[in-house]
Amino acid sequence: MIKILTILGARPQFIKAGSISREIAKYKEIEEIIVHTGQHYDANMSDIFFDEMQIPKPNYFLGIGGKSHGAMTGQMIEKIEEVALKENPDWIMVYGDTNSTLAGAIVASKLHIKLAHIEAGLRSFNMKMPEEVNRILTDRVSNILFCPTDTAIQNLKNEGYENLDCKIVKSGDVMQDGAMFYKNLALKPNIEIKNSFILCTIHRAENTDDETRLRSIFEALNEIAKEKQVILPLHPRTKKILENLKLNIQNLTIIDPVGYLEMVWLIDNCDFVMTDSGGLQKEAYFFEKQCITLRDETEWVELVECGANTLVGADKEKILKVYRSDSKFNIQNSTLDLYGGGKASENIIKELLSYE
Ligand code: UD1
Ligand code: UDP
Repeated sequence: MIKILTILGARPQFIKAGSISREIAKYKEIEEIIVHTGQHYDANMSDIFFDEMQIPKPNYFLGIGGKSHGAMTGQMIEKIEEVALKENPDWIMVYGDTNSTLAGAIVASKLHIKLAHIEAGLRSFNMKMPEEVNRILTDRVSNILFCPTDTAIQNLKNEGYENLDCKIVKSGDVMQDGAMFYKNLALKPNIEIKNSFILCTIHRAENTDDETRLRSIFEALNEIAKEKQVILPLHPRTKKILENLKLNIQNLTIIDPVGYLEMVWLIDNCDFVMTDSGGLQKEAYFFEKQCITLRDETEWVELVECGANTLVGADKEKILKVYRSDSKFNIQNSTLDLYGGGKASENIIKELLSYE
């Protein structure tokens, strides 16, 4: 019998862990205990995902959200440690690069519980991003590093991980498993949607916390929205900051965050995606949509290399230039299989079962 303590807290982690939980459910010899840290707590950032997505409800809800990085991560460490001591799992499993990921990693390493990191090896090489710090620290104390891409494996090799006491596995990307599972369950959101629209999300700290970048991005989006509908489900982080800046956003179709089934519909039916999200860059590719990424760098470099993704940063003129160029619409990327083809969860669980 293997007991896994899964640590989640932020929206994309619910989607990723859902794929793994569905796989775990096939095995009698694995028990999964889910801890939701509470990092995301609004109903449409959290509850809706558990209600509609056929993923198991968390066994523990820690209620730690809306705090500074230090307070949030510190309180998570304290509470996850209590749960880990009580449950005594064989593995702690963490996803991606959020504060919840780092807190789970620290608890596992201090209590000598084996740590599995899903989405290991990704790098933006921008140490100002909280995510880059979280993922580097988590990778370093992981026993198994499940890498979604060849690039992630290469990043770890470049950092000397082959000489460390850990196992590096190319698993593929669990997000592709989820996208394929939910594609047929997609729900059209109950808003006015034109035949042709752009799907947009903005929430990354490097954009929201830099007034010049945020103004420039929203000025470009507002221009674009004069020509084509721009639907923007708004993350609470961005909402709070936009309210203070009083930007001109009148042309945009701004809506509350949507559940994943609605999001899948929007991705599948949009003309293309504009985003600073990590997950959405890949989902655009899974649904054969072009992505314009409002960041200076990306962890998903293979999408840029194959032409599916264009990095435009936050400069208004550059965003408008790429939006207006035709080149973004003639990329054929559907024949490429960069992320494991929907078998990541199966690969991960088989690997855990055979780990010695
Ligand atoms: C976090 C992750 C980021 C990930 C994102 C996914 C870290 C450092 N960042 O960013 O990598 O891309 O989740 O969406 O872990 N808020 C609400 N209601 C909520 C959730 C958040 O009001 O349900 C507010 C918080 O109070 C806070 C802000 O949004 O003021 C940011 O939340 P936080 O969890 O710190 O980071 P995210 O920006 O969501
Ligand atoms: N997402 C969603 N509803 C929304 C916005 C995003 O379901 O209103 C999904 C999105 O499709 C992706 C995941 O949430 O699967 C990514 O979350 P986010 O962009 O917040 O985080 P990141 O991937 O950048 O860490």
